[in-house]
Amino acid sequence: MLPSVIAVLMLLSYTCGENPAIQVILTNKGLQYGKHTGTDWIQEILENVTLPDISGKFPIGRLGSVDYTLSGISITKVDLPEPSVEFYPNTTGLKSSMSGLSVALSGEWRTHYGIIHDGGTLDLALFSVSVMSIVELGKDANGHLSISSVTCTCTIGDVAIQFYGGASWIFRPFVPFFKGHIKGEIQSRICPKVEEVIVILEDHLQVMNVSFDVDQVLSLNLSLTGLPVIDASSLNLGLKGELYSIRTHKEPPFEAQSFTVPQQHSYMFSVGMSEFTLNSASYGCYSDGLLQATVNDSMIPPLSPVHLNTTSMGQFIPQLPKLFPGLLMSLTVYAREVPMFSLKPDAVKLDFQGTVKAFAILPNDTQAPLFTLNVVSNFVFWTFWAEKVKIDSASFMVYSPLVLILSLNHSVSVILGKGVDLPRMKSAQLVNSVLKVDEVSNSKKQRK
Ligand SMILES: *[C@@H]1O[C@H](CO)[C@@H](O)[C@H](O)[C@H]1NC(C)=O
Ligand SMILES: *[C@@H]1O[C@H](CO)[C@@H](O)[C@H](O)[C@H]1NC(C)=O
Ligand SMILES: *[C@@H]1O[C@H](CO)[C@@H](O)[C@H](O)[C@H]1NC(C)=O
Ligand SMILES: *[C@@H]1O[C@H](CO)[C@@H](O)[C@H](O)[C@H]1NC(C)=O
Ligand SMILES: *[C@@H]1O[C@H](CO)[C@@H](O)[C@H](O)[C@H]1NC(C)=O
Ligand SMILES: *[C@@H]1O[C@H](CO)[C@@H](O)[C@H](O)[C@H]1NC(C)=O
Ligand SMILES: *[C@@H]1O[C@H](CO)[C@@H](O)[C@H](O)[C@H]1NC(C)=O
Ligand SMILES: *[C@@H]1O[C@H](CO)[C@@H](O)[C@H](O)[C@H]1NC(C)=O
Repeated sequence: MLPSVIAVLMLLSYTCGENPAIQVILTNKGLQYGKHTGTDWIQEILENVTLPDISGKFPIGRLGSVDYTLSGISITKVDLPEPSVEFYPNTTGLKSSMSGLSVALSGEWRTHYGIIHDGGTLDLALFSVSVMSIVELGKDANGHLSISSVTCTCTIGDVAIQFYGGASWIFRPFVPFFKGHIKGEIQSRICPKVEEVIVILEDHLQVMNVSFDVDQVLSLNLSLTGLPVIDASSLNLGLKGELYSIRTHKEPPFEAQSFTVPQQHSYMFSVGMSEFTLNSASYGCYSDGLLQATVNDSMIPPLSPVHLNTTSMGQFIPQLPKLFPGLLMSLTVYAREVPMFSLKPDAVKLDFQGTVKAFAILPNDTQAPLFTLNVVSNFVFWTFWAEKVKIDSASFMVYSPLVLILSLNHSVSVILGKGVDLPRMKSAQLVNSVLKVDEVSNSKKQRK
């Protein structure tokens, strides 16, 4: 009894183990947009298709039979009707169908009967072709999205065939026979072709990187945390969304919390990101010892009323100029704890606990320690609806020049400012995207 309970618990902890920190939601609007691109792609593929040779025998009464081969049959024209594509929750996948497709083909024919050989060319037209394909989406062991064919059906309404050259008039009586045979042959070859294309797609998905270096310091893991979730109107992919230090590759001591991205059907897709992504970046930089910096007077703008020298600092600490008159100073600032972000409605809050060590630079270039300050700060950054996803770093500057340089450079500017290079999207560009930070620790970025 007990072992089976433990086994079930282990299974549960494996299946419900990881919450996604990034969720990508494709809406029906996005699916329909993708369909147009997909249709062009299918048209391009079809225009290149060459069918394998079709051969067989046809009986000529008591004289036996004639062997024939139709070869080099390639598509000369396709009239591709608008296909329909829909989310198909029954198989956690997609269902696409196309009907009323017409195809013109041309090729060569050869026959032989004993030692008599003949040959010529042929034109072939297929009418009212219908194809229906159902695919299943899943997740492989390495966290890639996977796609596989569940069902494919194909019917061809009618075939017209015309032979040229040789003694082709001899064939005319046999055209009805050929028609049925060729129709059957072609019909049986379309679904394997469709399945081939799905396998090609699957191969592409398998070699796609789910981990990307964002810069020299941080790498982003976008592997799927669970199976895709599909309902009648959307597809939801949960991605790990963890940024980690390339050098230390340490796992942070906190986990992603679950969150939901509100459905936005007027957008093609939404991307929701939880604070775990920001905090994992923060942890990555912290564990790599990057959250520290030295500030000296040459980094302070010349026009600033305050300078990093003992005279100037005397207005805050009167003893300084008395003990160390007329010396330049430097500050070393570092994070004592991992700076943690929390996402609030329309704002990003950062808790920063750091230490500032001040030094006087002696004439012989040695640094004499002056004082140490422990800093506990909360910063709130307001976000705004904007055309591009970007938190204006200038507004951080107003709050604190030091901390900006220190902790935010990587955690925020890399993620939100410079941006993350997403997997290459052919001819895709974000338009009218908005950034919105939402209640209870979640946020979303959307594309229209
Ligand atoms: C079609 O075939 C040509 C020549 O073989 C090739 O250059 C082209 O890339 C092919 N197009 C597609 C979509 O496969
Ligand atoms: C999906 O499956 C349910 C039951 O398993 C069935 O009733 C329904 O007709 C199916 N839907 C489609 C579109 O096939
Ligand atoms: C995947 O990542 C590796 C190493 O980071 C890189 O060499 C390779 O080119 C990437 N592959 C693709 C398809 O981007
Ligand atoms: C990404 O995360 C997955 C799931 O946690 C893990 O199996 C995989 O090893 C990670 N990839 C990298 C490159 O760290
Ligand atoms: C200030 O720091 C920069 C960069 O670390 C350095 O190049 C410069 O010489 C320093 N200036 C002084 C006055 O120490
Ligand atoms: C110290 O800073 C003040 C401005 O705050 C400046 O006038 C003065 O020249 C500086 N002294 C040194 C030694 O750099
Ligand atoms: C620099 O000067 C200070 C005080 O003038 C002295 O204590 C220190 O030993 C000197 N350091 C070096 C490396 O000469
Ligand atoms: C902050 O990031 C910017 C751009 O990524 C870089 O040019 C700059 O050197 C960084 N500053 C520090 C102090 O790391």
